[in-house]
Amino acid sequence: MSITVRAAAKINLHLGVGRAREDGFHPLDTVYQAIGIHDDLTLTAADDLGVTTHVAAHIDPAAVPDGPDNIVLRAARLLAGHAGVPATGAFEVRKDIPVAGGMAGGSADAAAALVAYDRLRDLHTSDDDLLALAAELGSDIPFSLVGGTARGTGRGEQVTPVEDLHSWWWVAVPTTEGLSTPAVYAHFDRLRPDAPVVPASAEPVLAALATGEPLRLARALHNDLQEPAIDLRPELGDLIALGEAEGALRGMVSGSGPTVVFLCDSADGARATAASLTGAGHGVVLTATGPVAGAHVVA
Ligand code: C5P
Repeated sequence: MSITVRAAAKINLHLGVGRAREDGFHPLDTVYQAIGIHDDLTLTAADDLGVTTHVAAHIDPAAVPDGPDNIVLRAARLLAGHAGVPATGAFEVRKDIPVAGGMAGGSADAAAALVAYDRLRDLHTSDDDLLALAAELGSDIPFSLVGGTARGTGRGEQVTPVEDLHSWWWVAVPTTEGLSTPAVYAHFDRLRPDAPVVPASAEPVLAALATGEPLRLARALHNDLQEPAIDLRPELGDLIALGEAEGALRGMVSGSGPTVVFLCDSADGARATAASLTGAGHGVVLTATGPVAGAHVVA
């Protein structure tokens, strides 16, 4: 008895960040897009609860958290507790999404674990309950369940799907050493003590998406965490400039970074930009389209 669930990486086309709330989280107005870089998670019935992780060549295995705090095990324990069943099962995760890269790799695995556990154990958890459990695990995990393109508000956990009928071409360049999300938010607080209570509106990106024109979307892309991320890692600014000089319409830090994503005008444009970045010495350059589906059963 086993089941395999696929979950996608996410990028933020808009990430408006407001001044920290009393609970320490920042109010967001964000637009997520799931793109075609995936982790696959297989759950097999077992007497104990455990997880093993296999990583793609571009991922440092030491960077993947193991032990009981692994987000996959936390997801399984949370859903099992909710359903009143014992938390057991052998999880196997095949990772292609950069770790600690600002692409929600851990969140994708958590979302996949919730779906796999629910289906394998026939729990029939309602969508609303799954989304609430996902939000308890992390702010962007509800989006990993939903996928596609969606607006996120609250601390990012309140997700509303957005109609996005086009396909957008992205080139993603991970960096060997990850960046901690809390550290980037803390640096945002230092750089922007005057940040508005209400985050910058996602409306311009939503309007650009509706046109289907890559140049319009490129101009509208916005990320309030880019400045703190580049301040912590100045080389990210050089990478963005390089990709834009090599034909990308626009480069930006993905979420809290350090992965940098480039929007390109076409498949050929993405391949050309990717080839130039590889030629310039960037060892790992991934090409993907979005939007793609949220966590779903593939076997
Ligand atoms: O929700 P999640 O566990 O992904 O958040 C990780 C950390 O990122 C939080 O502990 C917090 O420091 C920061 N965060 C934030 N505001 C958000 C989302 C995350 O400050 N809206």
